[in-house]
Amino acid sequence: MADTSTHTSTHLGSAPDTAREADPFPVKGMDAVVFAVGNAKQAAHYYSTAFGMKLVAYSGPENGSRETASYVLTNGSARFVFTSVIKPSTEWGTFLTEHVAAHGDGVIDLAIEVPDARAAYAYATEHGARGIQEPYELKDEHGTVVLAAIGTYGKTRHTLVERSGYDGPYLPGFAPAEPIVAPPAKRVFQAIDHCVGNVELGRMNEWVDFYHRVMGFTNMKEFVGDDIATEYSALMSKVVADGTLKVKFPINEPAVAKKKSQIDEYLEFYGEAGVQHIALATNDIVASVRAMRAAGVQFLDTPDSYYDTLGEWAGETRVPVETLRELKILVDRDEDGYLLQIFTKPVQDRPTVFFEMIERHGSMGFGKGNFKALFEARGGGLRPGAGGVALGGGRVRVVAGGRSGARVRDCMIYDAHQAKVQWRADVARHKSRFTSRTRPLHDPLQHPPPTTRDGPSAVADHRHPHPTGRDHPAAAGDHRREGAGVAGGACPDTKA
Ligand SMILES: [Fe+2]
Repeated sequence: MADTSTHTSTHLGSAPDTAREADPFPVKGMDAVVFAVGNAKQAAHYYSTAFGMKLVAYSGPENGSRETASYVLTNGSARFVFTSVIKPSTEWGTFLTEHVAAHGDGVIDLAIEVPDARAAYAYATEHGARGIQEPYELKDEHGTVVLAAIGTYGKTRHTLVERSGYDGPYLPGFAPAEPIVAPPAKRVFQAIDHCVGNVELGRMNEWVDFYHRVMGFTNMKEFVGDDIATEYSALMSKVVADGTLKVKFPINEPAVAKKKSQIDEYLEFYGEAGVQHIALATNDIVASVRAMRAAGVQFLDTPDSYYDTLGEWAGETRVPVETLRELKILVDRDEDGYLLQIFTKPVQDRPTVFFEMIERHGSMGFGKGNFKALFEARGGGLRPGAGGVALGGGRVRVVAGGRSGARVRDCMIYDAHQAKVQWRADVARHKSRFTSRTRPLHDPLQHPPPTTRDGPSAVADHRHPHPTGRDHPAAAGDHRREGAGVAGGACPDTKA
């Protein structure tokens, strides 16, 4: 473990760095999205076959990690890590086990690659971030990685990864691995475009401020305010990004609106704030969606009426309207250009995490215009789940039996009148609950809710008591020892 006090004081006391003055928290981009899942082996298979990703590294019992199994998959610059627990024996394993039990499969880490992890950690914690892991080094024959971690909303963290001195497949402790299936001839996507977090009612601005202070991020112009929240989307949203726009984090919160908030539903099923969706950049969304649909990925539906007037406001797009209609791809346009986007249904049984495919042509928006467009396409009025597809990335929902014990299902084919009546009754019945809620929903069977609301750092601290003072870095496996054996070859068996 690195002596962080020394490093911290060195950085804080060093001569002014011009580059750092210009950008106090420089980033290189997203390093990885790390998921804690119930079955990482099957998750790796799903993302290989359905998302066209390539397994490149592995850590598990075969190469010395007896507690966890982790699979690293890439596509272009995008990297996902899936970790599951084999048998918990440390606080880290217990943490992962409890995380999956409480939240289902979900994102535990939005790891960010930085040029200097010690400096980044020092700056972040000096500006109010909750330090989870002080900077430390991992080494093997491929070089050295410096890692540190800070907490963000919920139990999500940002591992800060400095890997310029490392050329291994992922991190020390990971062995190279062969793809599970032959990668598709055409890449399904090539990068992570943005990662969206859902936070509790009334807390969006706190977390936006957190990214301002802690990472020097600034707001992008697109935001969803009261007007759209009330009328179309039931959510509010702002987007923070680093100065180069390589890392973009929209932050959503539920809004008191005419209809049920999807964000509320996420918070209820996930149990607290967390990552809602990952947007994946593609340069051919038509090919991507065709390939993913053929592999069984389910996408949200869009009514035909959306496409009847699309050309009037969206103008010319690379993809003909009839193809957009066939594949249910959405369009949004602003003064900078346009974007094409589509949302998957949740990729696990809980209505929580899902993905977005996005093809940008100039626009650096996130699909705000689709709140209204979809609302109008569905005839306006109070429709379940009519909005929120863009930033909020919703589902079309039919609610049966009210919100308490609500049974919801993804559906576009439903009795509109019955649904509207049901929805109005549901809103009326629970309006007081929406408006009076002052704290996030928590699973009462698992954990007590937080008792105070002191701001991001404090809240992060009194979420579920964290079983570990040494949460693992970007991922997974207990690979902190230096030089953990990852010598060439896929998953060498070291048990013998
Ligand atoms: Fe998005």
